[in-house]
Amino acid sequence: MVVPESQEKMYYPPVELQRNAHVPDFNSYLVMYKKSLENPEAFWREVADEFFWKKPATGPMLQHNFDMTKGNIFVNCMEGAKTNMCYNVLDRHVKEGKLGEKVAYYWEGNSPDHHMTITYRQLLSHVCRCANVLKQMGVKRGDRVSIYLPMIPELIVTMLACARIGAVHSIVFAGFSSESLCERIMDAQSSVLVTADGVYRGEKLINLKQISDEALEKCREKGSSGVTTCLVIKHQAQRTRTGTSCNKLQTPWESERDVWWDEVMRDSPDECEPEWMDAEDPLFILYTSGSTGKPKGVVHTVAGYLLYTSLTFRYVFDHHPDDVYWCTADIGWITGHSYITYGPLANGATSVLFEGLPVHPHVGRFWEIIEKYKVTKFYTAPTAIRLLMKYGQEPLRKYDLSSLRILGTVGEPINPEAWRWYHEVVGQGRCPVVDTFWQTETGGHVLTPLPAATPLKPGSATFPFFGVEPAILNEHGEELEGVTEGYLVFRKPWPGIMRTIYKNQELFENTYFRKFPGFYVTGDGCRRDKDGYYWITGRIDDMLNVSGHLMSTAEVEAALMLHQSVSEAAVVSRPHKVKGECLYCFVTLKDSKEFNCKLVEDLKRLVREKIGPIATPDFIQNAPALPKTRSGKIMRRILRQIARNEKDLGDLSTLADPKVVEVLFNQRSEAA
Ligand code: PRX
Repeated sequence: MVVPESQEKMYYPPVELQRNAHVPDFNSYLVMYKKSLENPEAFWREVADEFFWKKPATGPMLQHNFDMTKGNIFVNCMEGAKTNMCYNVLDRHVKEGKLGEKVAYYWEGNSPDHHMTITYRQLLSHVCRCANVLKQMGVKRGDRVSIYLPMIPELIVTMLACARIGAVHSIVFAGFSSESLCERIMDAQSSVLVTADGVYRGEKLINLKQISDEALEKCREKGSSGVTTCLVIKHQAQRTRTGTSCNKLQTPWESERDVWWDEVMRDSPDECEPEWMDAEDPLFILYTSGSTGKPKGVVHTVAGYLLYTSLTFRYVFDHHPDDVYWCTADIGWITGHSYITYGPLANGATSVLFEGLPVHPHVGRFWEIIEKYKVTKFYTAPTAIRLLMKYGQEPLRKYDLSSLRILGTVGEPINPEAWRWYHEVVGQGRCPVVDTFWQTETGGHVLTPLPAATPLKPGSATFPFFGVEPAILNEHGEELEGVTEGYLVFRKPWPGIMRTIYKNQELFENTYFRKFPGFYVTGDGCRRDKDGYYWITGRIDDMLNVSGHLMSTAEVEAALMLHQSVSEAAVVSRPHKVKGECLYCFVTLKDSKEFNCKLVEDLKRLVREKIGPIATPDFIQNAPALPKTRSGKIMRRILRQIARNEKDLGDLSTLADPKVVEVLFNQRSEAA
């Protein structure tokens, strides 16, 4: 890594930001980075020192094996230590740090009329009451609790209550279908499901309780007796006061199993001794798409995740006590886990928690919220930036955005045009844009600029965070030096990396460690330029990234194949102006079945029902046959080119029947 000397336009950190920053210049970054690699023990011990440990570690800060040829893959952080996540992110601030009256969250509802403020002391009190409720329901240390909730304070309360009693939360994004929820409840073997009556997303009412009931019914049909209690928050009926559609009478109810949140919380005591957990006990499971189509339960553990989310939050957003921070992600994804709940709370930060949409009830909603709460650090996704760009500068001009200091993005590569708009129009040229590359599996940022230290190049996630050692490999596993492009891998762990796939260590090892022994394989392609900057080029496996949501071609294909008319399906990505990528599906029909508009609509509905609205295909094309190799493997490269209408297909000699390609091109116009 060298200090950049590039000729292309660089964006240097503003001097005012550097004055008071944790990492004030590029040289400081280099010195700290070097220390983090040369002496990880000292580096991470210092980070750990500010937290509360019921028992100190007896083992080293980090131990690992990344080489399958030498035994099981493992990562171990602070062996022997005992602590509690919830204690560290709440009690420590309230009792030791005197932050009890500090605002933890400004909650802003779907409608601008709904909002509330929650201090650290109030949050702690709610969490303890919820922890006692869960205990009352029989939830014990190590048990799993599934959570299917919108972006409301109770979501954070429930996850921290789990952490307090040592239960493992498994949050399922509340846009997923009943089928997806059922699959995740069954895999985690949860005994409790926490949900809400309903939620408005923009104008649309979503009946979460009904979806939950369907999911639990499906679990029952599949032979799982798992969930014995369903805890239901009266959100839609109570808080949004639309009155009619959801109340106790109209919400489907099974009295043996269902319990209203407010009824049990009311009398629950607000003190609860934390369960003292081992450093390596699981904190949560979060499902992410697997290339086989079955979601993988990524497991994160207590101590390492605490250290890593806390440190990345502090440095990447250069956090200071008077900041108001806002991450627009949903807590159903890892970004929300790490950078709405745990990272900010570990730092005693004040955050905005937003339930709504960027364009409801008007396209200036984000800017209105920034003005309202005087947000200083703002973190969103490229897809949201591209969406808002479409409306031009007018909606922003109505609001005062002068409080902003740092902007961030996450989820997919950001195109330089969107980056510049974000920097110039939203940040008024004043705010560094931190393009943070990471994954559900990495737990926290791994490649990222530091706002006061790193000169920026639009579209590059720049350099590794402390403790992270990237490498770029070719197909044969040889490490490539200097200016190059290949597979992005990491040579050793950082505290926040995943520990395993729930109940499937073998899949964990095969997915991330088999291809290149000795390295964690991200599945992303990456380029390194002459200044040492890293540029993510996108997934190199069969994964798609739609609006920052990762999904596998296999899971969408499996959903399409459920239709009685479909005999085969292949799904590829196609670039999309707002979503980044969208789904382009080829379907081969069974003999005598007809391809028509109704079928297309039915297939789209099927995918929505099976996976959720985020996976709705944009294009469905009739494919009398698919391009296959002689051994029968579908050649996705060719399908991608057909989807993109790229006529220069190169060598087709490996195809069993090259004529298929022409047929697919001819049928294309009907699809688009
Ligand atoms: O392909 C990369 C892309 O998102 C993938 C991880 O998705 P997920 O586990 O859902 O986590 C998303 C939020 C952390 C990565 O493998 N990705 C994420 N951030 C970036 C990115 N691609 C380019 N630049 C980024 N900043």
